[in-house]
Amino acid sequence: MYCIKKVTDDLVWVGSNDRRLALFEGVYSVPTGVSYNSYLLTDEKTVLFDTVDKAVRQRFMENVEVALKGRKLDYLVVQHVEPDHSAVIPELIRQHPEIKIVCSARVLEFIKQFYDFDIDSRIHLVEENDTLNTGKHNLQFIMAPMVHWPEVMMTYDSTAKILFSADAFGCFGALNGALFADEVDFAKDYMDETRRYYSNIVGKYGTQVESVLDKASALNIEMICPLHGFVWRSNLSEIISKYMLWSRYEPEERGVMIAYASVYGNTENAAEILACRLRDKGIKTVIFDVSVTPASEIVSAAFKWSHLVFASTTYNAGIFVTMEALINDLSAHNIQNRRVAVIENGSWAPTSGGLIREILGKCEKINILENNVSILSGLKKAQLSDIESMAQAIGADFPAPAGVAQNNQAVPNTVDPNTMFKLSYGLFILTARDGNKDNGCIINTVMQVTVTPMKITIGVNKANYTHDMILKTGKFNVSVLSEKAPFSIFQQFGFKSGKDTDKFAGSEEALRTENGVRYVSEWTNGVISGEVKESIDCGTHTLFIAEVNQAFSLSRDASVTYQYYFDNIKPKPQPPKGNKKGFVCKICGYVHEGDTLPDDFVCPLCKHGAADFERI
Ligand code: FEO
Repeated sequence: MYCIKKVTDDLVWVGSNDRRLALFEGVYSVPTGVSYNSYLLTDEKTVLFDTVDKAVRQRFMENVEVALKGRKLDYLVVQHVEPDHSAVIPELIRQHPEIKIVCSARVLEFIKQFYDFDIDSRIHLVEENDTLNTGKHNLQFIMAPMVHWPEVMMTYDSTAKILFSADAFGCFGALNGALFADEVDFAKDYMDETRRYYSNIVGKYGTQVESVLDKASALNIEMICPLHGFVWRSNLSEIISKYMLWSRYEPEERGVMIAYASVYGNTENAAEILACRLRDKGIKTVIFDVSVTPASEIVSAAFKWSHLVFASTTYNAGIFVTMEALINDLSAHNIQNRRVAVIENGSWAPTSGGLIREILGKCEKINILENNVSILSGLKKAQLSDIESMAQAIGADFPAPAGVAQNNQAVPNTVDPNTMFKLSYGLFILTARDGNKDNGCIINTVMQVTVTPMKITIGVNKANYTHDMILKTGKFNVSVLSEKAPFSIFQQFGFKSGKDTDKFAGSEEALRTENGVRYVSEWTNGVISGEVKESIDCGTHTLFIAEVNQAFSLSRDASVTYQYYFDNIKPKPQPPKGNKKGFVCKICGYVHEGDTLPDDFVCPLCKHGAADFERI
């Protein structure tokens, strides 16, 4: 019996699930199965996007016929020739000899390599950005080489704003009745399998994935239909932001993944002790026994965590077999941009550590700790200091900010203003216009409060000239700063007063929204125009509640948070030369030299008071 699902009014999922597959691609375990997605568009022309694996061909063929409702099949778009998506093409053609096959020259080449049927008479070749009109819908073809094979192509339906993304944005796991990612608890139940799918299937090709993400950022995408896993119709940033991290080999979480290979438990013992010492320092840890956990799961974890520790016994004068396979696998998957530590063991000639270092040392941006822990058979008490040293060296990358309560310590009964920085404040350029005067300042409190009508709140210091302009005009723009923003933009808008300077001096083009207020398009990722409906006097600040009149995105760059600004953008304060004493402004880094700082001191750069200074 057929089993199809409606995607939109004229798009139907005609794929199928396989829960009996032991190993995907003959390598990757899929304990929760896998879906093979195919989609049928029933426009004036009918268009099928890819087919499925031979394991589910019977259900698929029935699904297509039911979804066609007796119509002929005009086009088959072949985006990827890997047989889990192309195996049923020959049978489909026997059933629908009228089909035109829409594909790239590279796809054609691969189809001819895999199959023997007359394709030349029914080919419709397309190139980058070629389009195909099917009635109401316009399809645009986008080449995506190496995501996952060199022939891969994606298709953008500019009418429905749907990206048919081939393997990209897919995941392991059968669809258990749901089709859309928002029908399940994706973060909890499927993100790990999405990361495992990404890291193992396309992890090697981060540059190519970045290139496709760049192309996609120019499109207005409201839905993503991948060849495996769920369809994304809301909160697309949840999956796109992960792809941005993974493709740049940036860790998702700060913490330590420890993978060990241990024959008699002694190397395991060292790994466990290291994990305990790291946890004592408040550092997150995960541990894998590489002889037990499939390599694909450990590769996936390596893409997630910032620090990696490999502990291996020596075997046949080399790395223990399962660890050697893992290290080679990680290298093959292009792991990079990680801090690594190595523990080796061996009863007469430990060599595994040096060999692991040799392989990983060839990977890009892998920083291997000098600290060496080399065990002869079993860890002895005298060597606990080596483990502690390694934990300390790793811990140096996880500095606890001053005043942080460590595990088991009593928490202070005070209000530490630094705790507020834990909230995920963004940083924004707030702009306003009064008559012919344009002005702007930096704020860190913008929050959406309602959807219908869409309202936001902004908190603005009364000392800012922009505050007075908004109080008078009731209009403003918020330009959301991205992580790419340089310190100079914060200096330009944050450390001067608009009363005596032109914040837009040097800007070539006066970009304005419909409300006439200027906005900043460089180093920002989105703009929101607000019209004030209410204001609340909060003492030093006014809280404006505003209705959103206009809002648009400018880029997919991540929004900067206050924490990111402090960690990565604000220059680190330099101590005064010659052992002089002083105080540094935590906001802008200005250094005031001297033994004391008057209570009424005001930073000459950013105008913050003495409370925002700390002793050097
Ligand atoms: Fe699902 Fe690259 O094939």
